[in-house]
Amino acid sequence: PLFQELFGLSEMEEKIRRYYSLSRVHIVPGDSDSSKTAKRELGRAGSQALIRALGKDDVVAVTGGTTMAQIANHLTSPVPLPNNWFVPARGGLGESLDYQANTIASMMAKRTGAQYRLLHVPDHLGDEAYVTLMQEPNIQEIVDVIRKSRIVVHGIGDAMVMARRRKVDQGAVEAMKAEGALAESFGYYFDRSGAVVHKMQTAGLRLEDIMATEVVIAVAGGQSKGEAIAAVMKFGHDDVLVTDEAAALEIIRLI
Ligand code: BG6
Repeated sequence: PLFQELFGLSEMEEKIRRYYSLSRVHIVPGDSDSSKTAKRELGRAGSQALIRALGKDDVVAVTGGTTMAQIANHLTSPVPLPNNWFVPARGGLGESLDYQANTIASMMAKRTGAQYRLLHVPDHLGDEAYVTLMQEPNIQEIVDVIRKSRIVVHGIGDAMVMARRRKVDQGAVEAMKAEGALAESFGYYFDRSGAVVHKMQTAGLRLEDIMATEVVIAVAGGQSKGEAIAAVMKFGHDDVLVTDEAAALEIIRLI
């Protein structure tokens, strides 16, 4: 049965890889919505995908979230990587400290003997605050580093779950819903076809930066995220997808 299962997973990987023109898809067994083991395995596979992509002097931007925290938990390097930098992809998104991008970036750096820089600004900035903050040399410097990352590793969430987690105001939530928001990733909201339906001014990575990033790695699993993952794959700027069996079955149902 194990052999059969593995064979099934690799067929699914190939099907999804081809459909979305990804360079690599990795599927771990199980459903990380309900299984802690599956979520841990997702983290382990995510960390392997990152290590595989990592060069000697890279800047890696990471988002926050519980999946990213699992990746950080599993990340190791046999030799220290002192010329690699980990940075948060976005500013603070109001989540608990353990799951913030800053925390994940610093953890990853410590676990691999790399460097890190943090971004200490809220992600959601009004026009005036944005202009003022971006004139701060310290902030400007780290923002420039973030926007030039060669690798981005990000989670994907269900739009409504993430809007709640991020305390997006009711008006904006209703507007997004009306436009068909289904997925959230790096602070942007996407509809079924992968079109962006909600964005905000950010001190971190913007869509155009993500489009220009050489290696974009998405790590997300669980049956409840299948549709959201498919929507972000339609957006079309990921290179690698690490997911689980339950999400993969949902994705395949949609393609
Ligand atoms: C966020 C990322 O912090 O984590 C998002 O910025 C993603 O891109 C979300 O949607 C997913 O969180 P989790 O906890 O479900 O892995």
